Amino acid sequence: MKKSITLYQHNVHIGNLILVNEDYPIVRPFHPQLVPIGSSYAAVSLQRNAAALLSGAFHRIGADERIVPVSGFRPLSEQKQIYEDSLKENGRAFTEQYVALPDHSEHQTGLAIDLGENKDDIDFIRPDFPYEGICQEFRKHAADYGFIERYQEKKTDVTHIAHEPWHFRYVGCPHAALMAERDMALEEYIAWLKHFPYEGEHLFTGNDRYEMEIFYIPMTVPSSPQTAGIPRSVRIPLPKCTAYQVSGNNVDGCIVTLWHGRYAPASSTRRRAG
Ligand code: DAL
Ligand code: ZN
Repeated sequence: MKKSITLYQHNVHIGNLILVNEDYPIVRPFHPQLVPIGSSYAAVSLQRNAAALLSGAFHRIGADERIVPVSGFRPLSEQKQIYEDSLKENGRAFTEQYVALPDHSEHQTGLAIDLGENKDDIDFIRPDFPYEGICQEFRKHAADYGFIERYQEKKTDVTHIAHEPWHFRYVGCPHAALMAERDMALEEYIAWLKHFPYEGEHLFTGNDRYEMEIFYIPMTVPSSPQTAGIPRSVRIPLPKCTAYQVSGNNVDGCIVTLWHGRYAPASSTRRRAG
């Protein structure tokens, strides 16, 4: 296992936890590795891990043929087209509520998926995904597979997007479960994780197989004439772990998640060892 990790400014803008919304756009270059979701929906794709876990969730609840992936990854050109078409067909008020501006859509990350109940005439922008039956069964298990319901009715003041029961976002494990437990939108979760910096208390969570440790690394570039334009990098010794994952938050830093193989019950926070 690696002894240290070095993070560069571009790391802030890639990974499962990137926040993409009206304030934080996609930052280029951005090259998601995309794969189609299952064989029946070749036109709908997601990033590799998200696609595999979505298929896993569908398999677990027997959703194949009952839930349809309606829209996954969208290139910039598609998001532009959807926005322009919706302005013409539905007007500005509707469009601003239900369609993110080009370069401000999670769909451009390959981490977001619109799901619809399988029926005739599935609406492309607002597919039906009711809070009952097979759709609700998916919601119940979504966090186990790293997905969150991104635009909940009670969070419209935070997300500034209308209630979208059909739009799910892959953030990975254990983050989806932590967000669900704490009833946090991604905006709130990204802000909360800053309370667990590398140099301070880390966040610990666990399941029956792993203890997981999470911390935040700020990556802000100091703005002075001397440092302007200089890419900032941060090298940190990596605490001992079985596996680790790094994601930018697309705002100002990176979040590191460590997996420790042996589960040891822990309080929710603990000082970094060593
Ligand atoms: N419908 C969501 C907000 C999007 O267009 O990304
Ligand atoms: Zn969507």
